[in-house]
Amino acid sequence: MAPLGRPRGCSSLSLALLLLFEIVSFQPFATGLLLTTKEQDVVNRFQEYLKFDTVHPSPSYYPVTEFLIGQGKQIGLDTKVVEYVQGKPVILFTWKGTEPSLPSILLNSHTDVVPVEHAYWKHPPFAAKMDEGGNIYARGSQDMKCVGMQYLEAIRNLIAAGFKPQRTIHVSFVPDEEVGGGDGAKLFYESSDFKELNVGFVLDEGLASENGNYRVFYAERTVWWFQITAAGHPGHGSRLFDGMALENLRHSLNAIAEFRKSQFDKVKSGEKAEGEVTSVNNVYLTAGTPTPTGFVMNMQPSHAEAGFDMRVTPLADVDALEKRFHEEWAPASRNLTYRFVQKGKVTDNFGKPAITAVDDSNPWWVMFKEAIAKAGGTLAKPEIFMAATDGRYARKQGIPVLGFSPMTNTPVLLHDHNEFLNVKEYLKGIKVYEQILRTCTGPKDETGDTSNSKAGSGVLSETIHTEL
Ligand SMILES: *[C@@H]1O[C@H](CO)[C@@H](O)[C@H](O)[C@H]1NC(C)=O
Ligand SMILES: [Zn+2]
Repeated sequence: MAPLGRPRGCSSLSLALLLLFEIVSFQPFATGLLLTTKEQDVVNRFQEYLKFDTVHPSPSYYPVTEFLIGQGKQIGLDTKVVEYVQGKPVILFTWKGTEPSLPSILLNSHTDVVPVEHAYWKHPPFAAKMDEGGNIYARGSQDMKCVGMQYLEAIRNLIAAGFKPQRTIHVSFVPDEEVGGGDGAKLFYESSDFKELNVGFVLDEGLASENGNYRVFYAERTVWWFQITAAGHPGHGSRLFDGMALENLRHSLNAIAEFRKSQFDKVKSGEKAEGEVTSVNNVYLTAGTPTPTGFVMNMQPSHAEAGFDMRVTPLADVDALEKRFHEEWAPASRNLTYRFVQKGKVTDNFGKPAITAVDDSNPWWVMFKEAIAKAGGTLAKPEIFMAATDGRYARKQGIPVLGFSPMTNTPVLLHDHNEFLNVKEYLKGIKVYEQILRTCTGPKDETGDTSNSKAGSGVLSETIHTEL
């Protein structure tokens, strides 16, 4: 990642300019940024949330939990806090629908954020400073405190507007997503608390879009991390012989490189998106006989090892992939062995690819798409997330999950320096969620459109039952 800014000394001139901007930003029309009092309140709440430094490796979860509980109370939501692992609270808000027996909707977000390199930030990453152009700088402004607060703001507005959802709406704030979610979403989704919610559809995080189309993610790739170890005859460095460890490992590296190229070529030619192929990258190599100053140069070592980060697309033929390991990448005949450091399941608990349908067969997708259109938005072609999110734990159970973070015309800065979100995108996103909730939780919106009434019909319930 390229540093976007170097630490700079603060001259009196830049300080003066900074102060000038401070003053200018409160003047209407001078910057094109004019917030109503109500919008200013909304922004203040977002900034307040961003200021909690729930940053790894030791996120402080209790203060932010207190803040969120306060928000839920203010809005009038039922609140529950559960610590599946001590010190790592899951916060759950519930807005009961008029027909609570219908499958509910869960809006999930994580409260933790990844570390920062302070020196590279132009504004302190936990000050949530809004600049003169309305960009709010903070770690978590895109990933994904924006989404968490937008859920709550949308509900706040809908309640104020007198909207009554037919389905129950749940909002969860989970810890530890950035370190795999093992102590957070995983335990929550496996809990009896979650089963009781009767969730039919989950929204979780997506990515910012650099153009005007919203991005949406319907699946994600699965982590397979593995090591390949080669054994061979040791011998004098001058000798030519077959069966040396590094030659055996090279056989493996070549075979894997060939597969990597076959996948990458599909991306380069535009035939496939990156999430639609399986990536495999060599992340370490280790061999040789060390000396205090380097390596013994006249010895062929008896062992060599390589490590790989592989991300398996849910579209992959997993059996064929597994066969490659013992037939091509680490055949015993070449004195090669392999070991998985991590091997996630590509399929869901029912043996089906963990993919949320993005066609007319999925009524949730139909409603989601309709909501985006009604909100005046356009959707990019649905994508497979290249890395992992908490959404996978719900998809495993056969529950439809869409990854969606409503940010258009925004550079993708998650995990990067100077992460920011513009206030206008933030406010627009709240409207989008309002529309999503109106359309997906029915019974019908203000336009009198009843198309979503089919969501409550037996058709959907039947789908849910067969899927679960
Ligand atoms: C594998 O190891 C065995 C036992 O050391 C050896 O006889 C054989 O030649 C080796 N084969 C290769 C391809 O390295
Ligand atoms: Zn995230």
